Amino acid sequence: MKIPKRLQPLVDDGLIDDVIRRLKSGKEADVFIVRCGEEIRCAKVYKEADKRNFKQAVNYQEGRKVRNSRDARAMSKGSKFGRQQQEEAWQNTEVDALYLLAKAGVRVPQPDICLDGVLLMELITDEEGLVAPRLSDVSLTQEQALADHAVMMNYAVRMLCAGLVHGDLSEFNVLMDKNGPVIIDLPQVVDAAANNHAKSMFERDINNMSNFYGQYAPELLNSKYAKEIWALYQEGNLTPESVLTGKFVESSKRADVGSVLEEIQAASEEHQRQLMARNEED
Ligand SMILES: Nc1ncnc2c1ncn2[C@@H]1O[C@H](COP(=O)(O)OP(=O)(O)O)[C@@H](O)[C@H]1O
Ligand SMILES: [Mg+2]
Repeated sequence: MKIPKRLQPLVDDGLIDDVIRRLKSGKEADVFIVRCGEEIRCAKVYKEADKRNFKQAVNYQEGRKVRNSRDARAMSKGSKFGRQQQEEAWQNTEVDALYLLAKAGVRVPQPDICLDGVLLMELITDEEGLVAPRLSDVSLTQEQALADHAVMMNYAVRMLCAGLVHGDLSEFNVLMDKNGPVIIDLPQVVDAAANNHAKSMFERDINNMSNFYGQYAPELLNSKYAKEIWALYQEGNLTPESVLTGKFVESSKRADVGSVLEEIQAASEEHQRQLMARNEED
Protein backbone atom coordinates (compact mmCIF):
# COMPACT_ATOMS: atom_id res chain seq x y z
CA MET A 1 0.00 0.00 0.00
CA LYS A 2 0.98 3.67 -0.22
CA ILE A 3 3.32 4.55 2.63
CA PRO A 4 1.36 6.38 5.36
CA LYS A 5 2.93 9.76 6.20
CA ARG A 6 3.76 8.82 9.79
CA LEU A 7 5.68 5.72 8.66
CA GLN A 8 7.73 7.57 6.01
CA PRO A 9 10.59 8.52 8.41
CA LEU A 10 11.11 4.83 9.30
CA VAL A 11 11.09 3.91 5.61
CA ASP A 12 13.65 6.69 4.97
CA ASP A 13 15.81 5.32 7.81
CA GLY A 14 15.68 1.81 6.29
CA LEU A 15 13.86 0.33 9.31
CA ILE A 16 10.77 -0.52 7.24
CA ASP A 17 10.94 -1.73 3.62
CA ASP A 18 7.27 -1.99 2.80
CA VAL A 19 3.87 -1.37 4.36
CA ILE A 20 1.62 -4.35 3.67
CA ARG A 21 -1.71 -3.28 5.14
CA ARG A 22 -3.49 -1.47 7.91
CA LEU A 23 -4.45 -3.92 10.64
CA LYS A 24 -6.51 -1.80 13.04
CA SER A 25 -7.44 1.78 13.61
CA GLY A 26 -8.03 2.22 17.31
CA LYS A 27 -8.79 5.10 19.61
CA GLU A 28 -5.19 5.53 20.61
CA ALA A 29 -3.23 4.17 17.67
CA ASP A 30 -3.20 2.93 14.06
CA VAL A 31 -1.58 -0.48 13.65
CA PHE A 32 0.05 -1.64 10.39
CA ILE A 33 1.62 -4.86 9.13
CA VAL A 34 5.00 -4.01 7.65
CA ARG A 35 7.92 -5.81 6.04
CA CYS A 36 11.42 -5.30 7.41
CA GLY A 37 13.83 -7.17 5.12
CA GLU A 38 12.64 -10.77 5.17
CA GLU A 39 10.53 -10.33 8.27
CA ILE A 40 6.92 -9.34 8.77
CA ARG A 41 6.53 -6.98 11.75
CA CYS A 42 3.91 -4.80 13.38
CA ALA A 43 4.07 -0.97 13.47
CA LYS A 44 1.93 0.86 16.03
CA VAL A 45 1.54 4.55 15.18
CA TYR A 46 0.48 6.56 18.24
CA LYS A 47 -2.16 9.20 17.75
CA GLU A 48 -1.24 12.67 18.89
CA ALA A 49 -2.38 13.62 22.39
CA ASP A 50 -5.28 15.81 21.24
CA LYS A 51 -6.66 12.97 19.09
CA ARG A 52 -6.34 10.40 21.84
CA ASN A 53 -9.11 9.94 24.31
CA PHE A 54 -7.57 7.74 26.90
CA LYS A 55 -9.60 8.24 30.04
CA GLN A 56 -7.96 10.09 32.90
CA ALA A 57 -4.44 9.92 31.51
CA VAL A 58 -3.32 11.92 34.55
CA ASN A 59 -4.18 9.04 36.91
CA TYR A 60 -2.00 6.72 34.91
CA GLN A 61 0.99 9.05 34.81
CA GLU A 62 1.10 9.60 38.57
CA GLY A 63 4.39 8.35 40.02
CA ARG A 64 6.14 7.94 36.68
CA LYS A 65 9.76 8.81 36.59
CA VAL A 66 10.83 11.58 34.21
CA ARG A 67 14.22 11.10 32.58
CA ASN A 68 15.75 14.42 33.68
CA SER A 69 14.87 17.63 35.49
CA ARG A 70 14.89 19.75 32.33
CA ASP A 71 12.15 17.53 30.88
CA ALA A 72 10.25 17.63 34.18
CA ARG A 73 10.30 21.45 34.23
CA ALA A 74 9.21 21.71 30.60
CA MET A 75 6.43 19.16 31.14
CA SER A 76 5.06 20.98 34.15
CA LYS A 77 5.05 24.31 32.28
CA GLY A 78 3.06 22.83 29.39
CA SER A 79 5.26 24.54 26.76
CA LYS A 80 5.46 23.16 23.22
CA PHE A 81 8.74 21.46 24.10
CA GLY A 82 7.10 20.22 27.29
CA ARG A 83 4.16 18.71 25.44
CA GLN A 84 6.54 17.06 23.02
CA GLN A 85 8.50 15.57 25.93
CA GLN A 86 5.25 14.34 27.46
CA GLU A 87 4.31 12.65 24.19
CA GLU A 88 7.67 10.93 24.01
CA ALA A 89 7.41 9.85 27.63
CA TRP A 90 3.99 8.29 26.94
CA GLN A 91 5.31 6.41 23.92
CA ASN A 92 8.56 5.30 25.56
CA THR A 93 6.56 3.91 28.47
CA GLU A 94 5.17 1.17 26.24
CA VAL A 95 8.50 0.13 24.72
CA ASP A 96 10.20 0.24 28.16
CA ALA A 97 7.39 -1.91 29.62
CA LEU A 98 7.68 -4.44 26.76
CA TYR A 99 11.41 -4.92 27.43
CA LEU A 100 10.91 -5.17 31.17
CA LEU A 101 8.03 -7.65 30.92
CA ALA A 102 9.76 -9.90 28.38
CA LYS A 103 12.65 -10.10 30.84
CA ALA A 104 10.24 -10.86 33.69
CA GLY A 105 8.84 -13.88 31.82
CA VAL A 106 5.56 -12.33 30.62
CA ARG A 107 4.65 -13.15 27.02
CA VAL A 108 4.47 -9.80 25.14
CA PRO A 109 5.42 -8.83 21.55
CA GLN A 110 9.21 -8.54 21.26
CA PRO A 111 9.89 -4.81 20.71
CA ASP A 112 12.41 -3.51 18.14
CA ILE A 113 12.40 0.25 18.56
CA CYS A 114 10.17 3.24 19.26
CA LEU A 115 10.95 6.15 16.94
CA ASP A 116 9.06 9.25 15.78
CA GLY A 117 5.87 8.07 17.50
CA VAL A 118 6.00 4.59 15.97
CA LEU A 119 6.57 1.36 17.90
CA LEU A 120 8.04 -1.40 15.76
CA MET A 121 7.51 -4.87 17.24
CA GLU A 122 6.87 -8.57 16.66
CA LEU A 123 3.62 -9.35 14.84
CA ILE A 124 1.77 -11.94 16.93
CA THR A 125 0.42 -14.71 14.70
CA ASP A 126 -1.54 -17.95 15.12
CA GLU A 127 -0.34 -21.44 14.11
CA GLU A 128 -1.19 -20.74 10.46
CA GLY A 129 0.87 -17.55 10.42
CA LEU A 130 -2.22 -15.34 10.28
CA VAL A 131 -2.55 -12.34 12.58
CA ALA A 132 -3.48 -13.70 15.99
CA PRO A 133 -7.07 -13.15 17.15
CA ARG A 134 -7.90 -11.15 20.24
CA LEU A 135 -9.01 -13.12 23.26
CA SER A 136 -12.46 -11.53 22.85
CA ASP A 137 -12.79 -13.31 19.48
CA VAL A 138 -12.03 -16.85 20.60
CA SER A 139 -14.17 -19.34 22.47
CA LEU A 140 -12.69 -21.78 24.94
CA THR A 141 -13.45 -25.06 26.64
CA GLN A 142 -13.76 -24.98 30.42
CA GLU A 143 -10.43 -26.77 30.75
CA GLN A 144 -8.62 -24.32 28.47
CA ALA A 145 -10.24 -21.34 30.19
CA LEU A 146 -8.96 -22.55 33.58
CA ALA A 147 -5.47 -23.21 32.20
CA ASP A 148 -5.22 -19.85 30.40
CA HIS A 149 -6.65 -17.99 33.39
CA ALA A 150 -3.89 -19.51 35.54
CA VAL A 151 -1.30 -18.35 32.98
CA MET A 152 -2.76 -14.83 33.02
CA MET A 153 -2.71 -14.74 36.85
CA ASN A 154 0.95 -15.76 36.76
CA TYR A 155 1.67 -13.00 34.21
CA ALA A 156 -0.09 -10.46 36.45
CA VAL A 157 2.04 -11.68 39.39
CA ARG A 158 5.23 -11.39 37.33
CA MET A 159 4.22 -7.88 36.21
CA LEU A 160 3.62 -6.83 39.80
CA CYS A 161 6.95 -8.34 40.88
CA ALA A 162 8.50 -6.13 38.15
CA GLY A 163 6.70 -3.13 39.69
CA LEU A 164 4.01 -2.68 37.03
CA VAL A 165 0.22 -2.84 36.71
CA HIS A 166 -1.18 -3.03 33.15
CA GLY A 167 -4.04 -0.62 33.81
CA ASP A 168 -6.13 -1.54 30.74
CA LEU A 169 -6.09 -5.33 30.79
CA SER A 170 -9.11 -6.93 29.14
CA GLU A 171 -9.96 -9.54 26.49
CA PHE A 172 -9.35 -6.77 23.90
CA ASN A 173 -5.71 -6.34 24.92
CA VAL A 174 -4.76 -10.02 24.94
CA LEU A 175 -3.94 -11.89 21.72
CA MET A 176 -4.01 -15.68 21.35
CA ASP A 177 -1.02 -17.24 19.60
CA LYS A 178 -0.32 -20.95 19.34
CA ASN A 179 1.22 -21.05 22.82
CA GLY A 180 -1.53 -19.13 24.60
CA PRO A 181 -2.20 -15.57 25.73
CA VAL A 182 0.06 -12.62 24.78
CA ILE A 183 -0.42 -9.27 26.54
CA ILE A 184 -0.41 -6.09 24.41
CA ASP A 185 -1.20 -2.36 24.63
CA LEU A 186 0.90 -0.94 27.47
CA PRO A 187 1.36 2.85 27.10
CA GLN A 188 -0.85 3.41 30.17
CA VAL A 189 1.05 0.95 32.37
CA VAL A 190 1.24 2.21 35.98
CA ASP A 191 3.95 2.15 38.61
CA ALA A 192 2.64 -0.22 41.30
CA ALA A 193 4.48 1.39 44.20
CA ALA A 194 4.26 5.09 43.31
CA ASN A 195 0.72 5.38 41.94
CA ASN A 196 -2.18 5.74 44.39
CA HIS A 197 -4.58 4.22 41.84
CA ALA A 198 -2.43 1.12 41.28
CA LYS A 199 -4.41 -1.13 43.61
CA SER A 200 -7.81 -0.29 42.14
CA MET A 201 -6.45 -0.60 38.60
CA PHE A 202 -4.92 -3.97 39.47
CA GLU A 203 -8.25 -5.19 40.86
CA ARG A 204 -10.07 -4.04 37.74
CA ASP A 205 -7.50 -5.77 35.48
CA ILE A 206 -7.71 -9.06 37.37
CA ASN A 207 -11.49 -8.98 37.65
CA ASN A 208 -11.78 -8.36 33.89
CA MET A 209 -9.77 -11.53 33.33
CA SER A 210 -11.69 -13.63 35.86
CA ASN A 211 -15.00 -12.43 34.40
CA PHE A 212 -13.91 -13.21 30.85
CA TYR A 213 -12.62 -16.72 31.60
CA GLY A 214 -15.53 -17.15 34.03
CA GLN A 215 -17.93 -17.30 31.06
CA TYR A 216 -16.40 -20.71 30.31
CA ALA A 217 -15.40 -21.73 33.83
CA PRO A 218 -18.01 -20.26 36.23
CA GLU A 219 -15.98 -21.30 39.29
CA LEU A 220 -13.71 -18.32 38.49
CA LEU A 221 -16.52 -15.81 38.95
CA ASN A 222 -16.32 -15.84 42.75
CA SER A 223 -12.53 -16.06 42.96
CA LYS A 224 -10.55 -13.43 44.87
CA TYR A 225 -7.26 -13.42 42.97
CA ALA A 226 -6.89 -9.63 42.95
CA LYS A 227 -7.10 -9.32 46.74
CA GLU A 228 -4.97 -12.41 47.30
CA ILE A 229 -2.16 -11.23 45.00
CA TRP A 230 -2.21 -7.63 46.25
CA ALA A 231 -2.02 -8.75 49.89
CA LEU A 232 1.05 -10.92 49.12
CA TYR A 233 2.59 -7.96 47.26
CA GLN A 234 2.00 -5.58 50.15
CA GLU A 235 3.43 -8.02 52.69
CA GLY A 236 6.54 -8.34 50.50
CA ASN A 237 5.81 -12.05 49.98
CA LEU A 238 4.95 -12.05 46.26
CA THR A 239 7.34 -13.95 43.96
CA PRO A 240 6.94 -15.13 40.35
CA GLU A 241 6.50 -18.64 41.78
CA SER A 242 3.83 -17.70 44.36
CA VAL A 243 1.16 -20.39 44.48
CA LEU A 244 -2.34 -18.87 44.28
CA THR A 245 -5.63 -20.24 45.54
CA GLY A 246 -8.09 -17.57 44.37
CA LYS A 247 -9.31 -17.38 47.96
CA PHE A 248 -8.88 -14.49 50.30
CA VAL A 249 -10.02 -13.98 53.85
CA GLU A 250 -10.28 -10.36 54.96
CA SER A 251 -7.62 -9.57 57.53
CA SER A 252 -8.63 -10.66 61.03
CA LYS A 253 -7.21 -7.36 62.32
CA ARG A 254 -10.56 -5.70 61.76
CA ALA A 255 -12.26 -8.29 63.96
CA ASP A 256 -9.58 -7.60 66.56
CA VAL A 257 -10.71 -3.97 66.84
CA GLY A 258 -13.47 -5.15 69.17
CA SER A 259 -11.07 -6.82 71.58
CA VAL A 260 -8.68 -3.85 71.46
CA LEU A 261 -11.58 -1.57 72.45
CA GLU A 262 -12.47 -3.93 75.30
CA GLU A 263 -8.91 -3.78 76.57
CA ILE A 264 -8.89 0.02 76.40
CA GLN A 265 -12.18 0.09 78.28
CA ALA A 266 -10.87 -2.29 80.94
CA ALA A 267 -7.65 -0.25 81.34
CA SER A 268 -9.66 2.92 81.66
CA GLU A 269 -11.93 1.38 84.32
CA GLU A 270 -8.89 0.14 86.21
CA HIS A 271 -7.39 3.64 86.07
CA GLN A 272 -10.64 5.13 87.42
CA ARG A 273 -10.64 2.60 90.23
CA GLN A 274 -7.08 3.48 91.17
CA LEU A 275 -7.86 7.21 91.18
CA MET A 276 -10.89 6.68 93.40
CA ALA A 277 -8.93 4.44 95.74
CA ARG A 278 -6.22 7.13 96.03
CA ASN A 279 -8.86 9.81 96.69
CA GLU A 280 -10.29 7.65 99.48
CA GLU A 281 -6.81 7.24 101.01
CA ASP A 282 -6.24 11.03 101.04
N1 LIG B 1 2.06 -7.01 18.09
C1 LIG B 1 0.85 -7.20 17.56
N2 LIG B 1 0.59 -8.30 16.80
C2 LIG B 1 -0.63 -8.48 16.25
N3 LIG B 1 -1.65 -7.63 16.38
C3 LIG B 1 -1.47 -6.51 17.10
C4 LIG B 1 -0.21 -6.24 17.73
N4 LIG B 1 -0.32 -5.05 18.38
C5 LIG B 1 -1.57 -4.61 18.17
N5 LIG B 1 -2.27 -5.47 17.40
C6 LIG B 1 -3.68 -5.30 16.96
O1 LIG B 1 -3.98 -3.93 16.92
C7 LIG B 1 -5.03 -3.61 17.84
C8 LIG B 1 -4.76 -2.26 18.49
O2 LIG B 1 -3.52 -2.28 19.20
P1 LIG B 1 -3.40 -1.80 20.70
O3 LIG B 1 -1.95 -1.89 21.07
O4 LIG B 1 -4.37 -2.54 21.54
O5 LIG B 1 -3.76 -0.24 20.59
P2 LIG B 1 -5.10 0.58 20.96
O6 LIG B 1 -6.11 -0.36 21.55
O7 LIG B 1 -4.61 1.57 21.94
O8 LIG B 1 -5.52 1.22 19.68
C9 LIG B 1 -5.05 -4.79 18.82
O9 LIG B 1 -6.32 -4.99 19.39
C10 LIG B 1 -4.65 -5.95 17.95
O10 LIG B 1 -5.77 -6.45 17.24
MG1 LIG C 1 -5.97 -1.98 22.74
